[in-house]
Amino acid sequence: MQSRRRPGSIEDVRRSPESSAAAAASGTTATRYADFGVREARGVSGAYERLSLAVSRDPEVLALLDTLPAAKRQPNLLFGVVRLLGGPVGDPTEFRAYVTSTWPKIAAELRVRSTQTNEPGRCAALLPVLAELPQPLALIEVGASAGLCLYPDRYAYRYGAHVLGSGAPVLDCALTGRPPPTGLPRVVWRAGLDLNPLDVTDPADVAWLDALIWPEHRHRRTRLRDAAAVATAEPPLLVRGDLVDDLPDLADRTPAGATLVVLHTSVLYQVPAPRRRAFVDVARDLPGHWIANEDPDVLPHDELPEPPAALHNLLALDGRPLAWTRSHGQAMVWFG
Ligand SMILES: C[S@@+](CC[C@H](N)C(=O)[O-])C[C@H]1O[C@@H](n2cnc3c(N)ncnc32)[C@H](O)[C@@H]1O
Repeated sequence: MQSRRRPGSIEDVRRSPESSAAAAASGTTATRYADFGVREARGVSGAYERLSLAVSRDPEVLALLDTLPAAKRQPNLLFGVVRLLGGPVGDPTEFRAYVTSTWPKIAAELRVRSTQTNEPGRCAALLPVLAELPQPLALIEVGASAGLCLYPDRYAYRYGAHVLGSGAPVLDCALTGRPPPTGLPRVVWRAGLDLNPLDVTDPADVAWLDALIWPEHRHRRTRLRDAAAVATAEPPLLVRGDLVDDLPDLADRTPAGATLVVLHTSVLYQVPAPRRRAFVDVARDLPGHWIANEDPDVLPHDELPEPPAALHNLLALDGRPLAWTRSHGQAMVWFG
């Protein structure tokens, strides 16, 4: 079902039943929480490290989580929902008491929500590629969430001492292996495709984006507000749809005279493997360019150099790997 076609709106196209928002997870729930605590939260969020390790050892909370589909048991999703509901995330004992006493309300939110963290900082990792493509650009972001990565031309950047652009947010990126970009791209059209687009002009959607930011990351909360102000001034065209089934139709709307760039960051881990492969086929067949910033476990490449510590994502242009990037765009090591 196709609906409104004005810029700045959220449009509906059909949902793909086989492309669920999250790929089925493997391992027990206890293992997932223990792994999350050690591999993802340690050194990044003391609060979430404590909570996830406590949950991994708590049979009662694990049993509650196991009443949900696997994709709805993720640590990030549970912690985000508790934050959204105003529950405590600083102390494992208080967290446990809140979860066990408020479970029906929490479970209802977990069932209808998914992790849709929208991190504009990732534009700093995309910029070196975007700035060097034939201008002007028409951007399509798949898995856009609220579309905050569709404004690489509107943000300011600091690559060490090298500053580009002005205003807020200012996106810091420690870049090594190549000189920083010398200019901003010229974007004449921007559109996002998402199974569940969020609306930056809706306070409830912004509250969910805020709840998904980890407790200690105050700078990211400020960045969210600054980027949301940029997007609110010129809301993106967001289409509700699937990145395989609905991308060709959206690409057909690219204005003449602009270079089409299909991009995605931290999306494919939510897409089942056969659908990822189908997406790659679709993206490769489109005219223009394709930029991926994804974990190589979900978008594999041959013969990659060793990733530097904490740089888990790989930036690739048209399937050619170029750089390791850190998850929020705060660092990149160029090798391409
Ligand atoms: C973790 S968020 C990343 C958002 C944004 N790319 C960023 O980096 O800030 C992943 C987004 O992908 C969307 N998504 C997952 N599977 C999808 C699919 N099959 N088609 C379109 N969007 C999808 C989710 O709804 C979610 O908003």
